[in-house]
Amino acid sequence: MARLGTRLPQSSRGRGFAQGRRNGRGRNAPFLFTRLQTDRPFVALKLATSIDGRIADAGGRSQWISGPEARDHVHWLRAGFDAIAVGGTTALTDNPQLTARGGITPRKPPVRIVFDRRAMLNSGVSLVQTAREVPTWVVASPEAPAANVTVLEGNGVRVFRPETLAQSFAQLRLAGIQSLLCEGGGALGTKLLAEGLVDRLYWVQAPVWLGEGGVPAFPGVRAFPLAEAPRWVAVERRPLGADTLLVLDRRLCLPES
Ligand SMILES: NC(=O)c1ccc[n+]([C@@H]2O[C@H](COP(=O)([O-])OP(=O)(O)OC[C@H]3O[C@@H](n4cnc5c(N)ncnc54)[C@H](OP(=O)(O)O)[C@@H]3O)[C@@H](O)[C@H]2O)c1
Repeated sequence: MARLGTRLPQSSRGRGFAQGRRNGRGRNAPFLFTRLQTDRPFVALKLATSIDGRIADAGGRSQWISGPEARDHVHWLRAGFDAIAVGGTTALTDNPQLTARGGITPRKPPVRIVFDRRAMLNSGVSLVQTAREVPTWVVASPEAPAANVTVLEGNGVRVFRPETLAQSFAQLRLAGIQSLLCEGGGALGTKLLAEGLVDRLYWVQAPVWLGEGGVPAFPGVRAFPLAEAPRWVAVERRPLGADTLLVLDRRLCLPES
């Protein structure tokens, strides 16, 4: 059972219409499973894509693929996670705030984490500028230039330098992160998927076409023969304004199992 004080990722009970296969307790089972069976946080990947699976147009613009209802839902979702993460390219391109600004104010603001092997973030980026107000961490590599790391640390950013992604997640868990919502981009999300580090996918599909040249949501996912292709479990489907949210879990995980 969850310890008192453990923050569980939000399930959509009480958020209007939802067609889910499981109740709130069932939807939290993968979180509890990951917490007990692994040395890493529960990891959810959230992406907003076009009908043709693009997360940005050919010029790298992604604001906004989804509509206001979907974006409001994401703020609500963020409040249930210990940390919100993005890749370095997204942090530099979109300059996001990565804060929970919805109807729920989290007891503790989620930690903001940027996966940025070369520690390229600089003091022109909002995440770095506000690092003393909202905890901000960078997962770099041991090879990241020392000068870049010094700039980040001088701005109040905590820098980790693990050898591998798996090691970084073990370090984040030791640092108190039990659940992490990764909000892209495609390159980081696909790496996490390839290493089996994603437990849940929040996929917002918007009714827009972006076509050839748009940034793909899942670049370079390896091919599987159909009979052996992984199938995830749909745990929720709901309309969010003009968009559609599909929530998929990697494994079927029942509270009793
Ligand atoms: N629609 C959406 O939901 C959505 C969400 C987010 C972003 N976007 C859009 O997507 C685009 C950016 O996405 P992207 O796929 O190009 O890039 P991305 O996923 O944002 O960035 C990849 C980053 O991950 C880092 N990384 C990879 N492996 C790592 C590791 N083991 N440890 C630490 N860091 C690691 C990379 O560093 P290295 O370069 O050193 O490997 C790189 O900085 C932008 O146009 C943005 O607007 C859309």
